[in-house]
Amino acid sequence: MLKTKGCGEINNSHIGNNETLAGWVHRRRDHGNLIFVDLRDRSGIIQVVFNPDLSPQSHKISQQLRNEWVIQVTGTVNPRPDGTQNADLTTGTVELVSEQIKVLNTSKTPPFYINEDSEIDEFIRLKYRYLDLRKQNMKKILSIRHQVVKFMRDFLDQREFLDVETPILIKSTPEGARDYLVPSRLYPGKFYALPQSPQQLKQLLMVGGIEKYFQIARCFRDEDPRADRVVELTQLDVEMSFVDEEDILALIEELYSSLVKTLFPNKKLMTPFPRMSYKDAMDTYSTDKPDLRFELKMSDVSKSVTNSEFKVFSSTIAKGGIVKGFSAPRCAGYPRRQLDDLVEFVKTKGANGLIWIALAGESGDLDNLTVEQIKSPASKFLSVETVKNIAASTGGGIGDLIFLIAGDDKSTNLALEALRNEMGRRLDLADPDMLAFAFVTDFPLLEWEDDSNSWTAMHHPFSSPKDGTEHMLNTSPESVIAKQYDLVCNGVETAGGSIRIHQRNIQEKVFELMGHSKEGIQEQFGQLLDALEYGAPPHGGFAGGIERLLMVLTGINNIRDVIAFPKTQTGVDPLFQAPGIASEGQLKELHLKTTEE
Ligand code: AMO
Repeated sequence: MLKTKGCGEINNSHIGNNETLAGWVHRRRDHGNLIFVDLRDRSGIIQVVFNPDLSPQSHKISQQLRNEWVIQVTGTVNPRPDGTQNADLTTGTVELVSEQIKVLNTSKTPPFYINEDSEIDEFIRLKYRYLDLRKQNMKKILSIRHQVVKFMRDFLDQREFLDVETPILIKSTPEGARDYLVPSRLYPGKFYALPQSPQQLKQLLMVGGIEKYFQIARCFRDEDPRADRVVELTQLDVEMSFVDEEDILALIEELYSSLVKTLFPNKKLMTPFPRMSYKDAMDTYSTDKPDLRFELKMSDVSKSVTNSEFKVFSSTIAKGGIVKGFSAPRCAGYPRRQLDDLVEFVKTKGANGLIWIALAGESGDLDNLTVEQIKSPASKFLSVETVKNIAASTGGGIGDLIFLIAGDDKSTNLALEALRNEMGRRLDLADPDMLAFAFVTDFPLLEWEDDSNSWTAMHHPFSSPKDGTEHMLNTSPESVIAKQYDLVCNGVETAGGSIRIHQRNIQEKVFELMGHSKEGIQEQFGQLLDALEYGAPPHGGFAGGIERLLMVLTGINNIRDVIAFPKTQTGVDPLFQAPGIASEGQLKELHLKTTEE
């Protein structure tokens, strides 16, 4: 090794030692006679002193050093003189007094500062990711990622799960996104698809008798990236045979809670993880991934306003829509500008508008509410009695602000979910040290999709209907509840899974409902359907998003910050400039022609 220790490892116990360190020049300060260099490597930063009286040669070289040059320094570890200790550095009580220095490499001036935290355009950060990774916080994230994945591997290894790799070049494995296709050179006009997840493969491993499988699996989904969505993600993928829902939920809870307790002992957890059905989650929080760190519970007030003179409400309900909302405590005094801002906010989330009702006053009994206390753009049309009913059902009292959205079920819930999270943020309701894990269960197996005029799987088509409900696939598919569950945390879906269908006829029925033809089913899913006929055991599992979990564990909002080499939000890799063009020769070999747009 070119070094005897890491820069950040040196402490008082090494005083008097002769050490050789190597790393990057983090910062250089020239005090005329003495030159100080903060030397950085992965383990941390230490101050190196170049004293012309002790080593004229190394002092001379240190005068030329620039940020990010790579150097090797040998010297003695000394205590820092009184008054010069730096409490911000773990090595702040010591310094290395240089006796010898060697420049291992020089560096151009980096396009951004590595020694300070400034706002840098993400494209530039990703174009020079190798420089961005030199920052201590990026190294910390990668180290946490390593520990999290290692914990998962060890945990499952101790429980006799086998880590099995599955192919990357495969056929379509639908998870609701578009496939990335890879053209075949040997079979003109044919394509491999990259796996959206190893779903069918892990099920085939169960048919293969593996019984307990896991993999840190790469998944590829050609969809528009978002704040918490990437096209190339990593999952902890797990599958087990001879299990029911309770077995998998118990495994997930033990894994995630012990991971947090071991690696993040300062975080607060709610155990056992609360559970709620999909329906309850939608009714109460307008989302199937509620942030349970705060209340702000929803109420459907449609009944109270069915015959309202306020046409926005009554006509929405007449058209089959709903009026739903929640009460924000102690917000009745919100200024108009802030309210207008929130109206605009929900419009960007797909709502037609937002009706707010402020119940002015400090405190008091709702029964004594007067017309003067009701401040709302709809106040003219809402009787005191109606407002009292709305307040009672949204849990609003004097001094509170009630938000209501009228519209169809889907768009109303989407906008309310966003507004609830926004108010949680504005009111600072979420404890940043809390990891509010919860299970959402009992998802409908299928939902109707107008665009394709067929049923579509709510999760994926392999989830099993609850026992005894299979017959409803023929009569009322919308009522079939799946043995399906999600693990949510702080408003993020961190994992999802199900008990699978292990009988061919039921699996075929689901595909048929989804509008697949008999030939189409055999072509796309033949491998799985055939396997189900050879003694497929009952089985189920889950997959947890590694990036999503890291986001909630670290509080990082940008998913790309927990990935070493992510693509931008527009799916581009600025470092490699991918996607790139293929040469004529390559295209020819692959039997492909490109067309100009
Ligand atoms: P699902 O599609 O729900 O299920 O994915 C499981 C978990 O993976 C994470 N995740 C993502 N993270 C970042 N970017 C994305 N584009 C993205 N998509 C998903 C989420 C999610 O909960 N095969 C099934 C699992 C199973 O049934 O066992 C599957 O992939 O945290």
